Amino acid sequence: MGEAGGPRERRRVRVVRGGPVLVEGPVEVELEDGSTVVSDRFVVALCACRRSRSYPFCDTSHRRRTRPDAPDRP
Ligand code: FES
Repeated sequence: MGEAGGPRERRRVRVVRGGPVLVEGPVEVELEDGSTVVSDRFVVALCACRRSRSYPFCDTSHRRRTRPDAPDRP
């Protein structure tokens, strides 16, 4: 199956439980506000937990856990 410009390649997307979604790059990601960000990395980790300070990219913040006995933060 092809389109103008040649056959499309199937990209692999891997969902990591409790972590990011790994997408074969390069990618252009469209955000909710319509803006776009790009990454030319071979594999791009997209944040699925919304805790990343580099959202939409994963910064491993999903790994941080709070102790069950820790007091609530303000
Ligand atoms: S999935 Fe890694 S910071 Fe959100």
